[in-house]
Amino acid sequence: MKNSKQILLLGLLAAVSIGIGLWAGMQGSSKPKTEGYPDLGGDFTLMSDKGPVSLQDLRGKVVPIYFGFTHCPDVCITSLSNISAGLKLLTEDELSRVQPLFISIDPERDDPARVGEYVRYFHPGIIGLSGSLDDVTKVAKKHFVIFEKVKLDDSEMGYTMDHSSIIYVVGKDGVIRTLIHHGEAPEGIAKVLREALDG
Ligand code: NI
Repeated sequence: MKNSKQILLLGLLAAVSIGIGLWAGMQGSSKPKTEGYPDLGGDFTLMSDKGPVSLQDLRGKVVPIYFGFTHCPDVCITSLSNISAGLKLLTEDELSRVQPLFISIDPERDDPARVGEYVRYFHPGIIGLSGSLDDVTKVAKKHFVIFEKVKLDDSEMGYTMDHSSIIYVVGKDGVIRTLIHHGEAPEGIAKVLREALDG
């Protein structure tokens, strides 16, 4: 049951990313100089445990963004481990120009303190963000992030969240330039971040 659901979700994800890719490609053909996904994502402000964080304040940095939740049994752990390992492949100078963000799509359980503590376990440079369900949903929707609360009958956790697993790499100009798909190795993540730093 869980597996079939995950497969369905992966299928949906693939369809969405292909859709975004094709659509962006079509946009690209009429505007050949436009790089990345200018109509995906966009500026937002959410809460970290050290105060509000606004994407517009991070211009000049490369900002990989991942959406997940701290109770996630596996997918987020894999992704955050890979992001962390990718960050560790960067030089100190490169790392100082990269600001990874993790946005909780489960703000009912993930307050800024909890999500901050969670992501720092993977890498001290990652900022964990949360907010009201409404605020988080708006940001997720702008990124076409699919997420859904799933009731768990036999668990004291109560529910889990199915969610898409894409790293959105925002370039120095604030525009998303690359989507990194689930399962990308740390080397691949580091390569994409370097390209964004050079671009
Ligand atoms: Ni997850």
